[in-house]
Amino acid sequence: MAGGNPLGCGPRPLGGWYLAIGLYCAPFGDHPATYLRVVEVSGIKGARLVLLVSGEGTNLQALIDACRDADFGAQVVAVGADRGPANGLARAERAGLPCFTVRLADYPGREEWDAALTRACAGFAPDLVVLAGFMKLVGKSFLDTFGGRCVNTHPALLPSFPGTHGVRDALAHGVKVTGCTVLLVDDGVDAGPIVAQASVPVADDDDEVTLHERIKVAERALLVSTVGRMVREGWSVQGRKVRIGS
Ligand code: GRF
Repeated sequence: MAGGNPLGCGPRPLGGWYLAIGLYCAPFGDHPATYLRVVEVSGIKGARLVLLVSGEGTNLQALIDACRDADFGAQVVAVGADRGPANGLARAERAGLPCFTVRLADYPGREEWDAALTRACAGFAPDLVVLAGFMKLVGKSFLDTFGGRCVNTHPALLPSFPGTHGVRDALAHGVKVTGCTVLLVDDGVDAGPIVAQASVPVADDDDEVTLHERIKVAERALLVSTVGRMVREGWSVQGRKVRIGS
């Protein structure tokens, strides 16, 4: 955001405790929107993260592990899934984290499911929601509550190859370089403002599995470093451009 930090919070001192305050959300558009600022407050451990997962949960695990370090600036307050049993949820349970499951099949339609997912997440008062391998599109209720403070990770260099088969589609297209993207979630399919990207080479003998595994190594590192920077430095959005820090 032009003009620096609007809430006047300075750099984090070493070894402190943090509280995320001063959330201001505005729809994406022409006006800059400024999000989290983290300040030192005794006894509260950093920004509150709710993580959503559908499958294996290696990205989720990377975030859980990163949050064990108080200097990371965030704590995982809950993990939610859209299906059970998800390996990701088992990882969260092993870490002693509160878990919830909101299955589409248990609701009359997507709208009701989305409202229930929103309520479940909101119950943990997150500062940031991270879709860490969450394979459902969120809807209006969710975006009304968490728009601008929900990030997703995608295994391709957006805007190329959005959707469920990003790795397969990149391979089929014959690209020599692909990668991963951390983006803010909006009402499109992998269409929100891009927060960070990393590139990954495609080998001649790659198949979808080998390429996806190589991407996921980069993806976990990118997700952890990006979420960490966001919670420690805050972020702003102007049009499609996301900027971390002031
Ligand atoms: C990741 O590549 C994510 O981008 C995609 O599915 C994969 C999930 O991996 N949507 P994991 O469950 O975190 O291991």
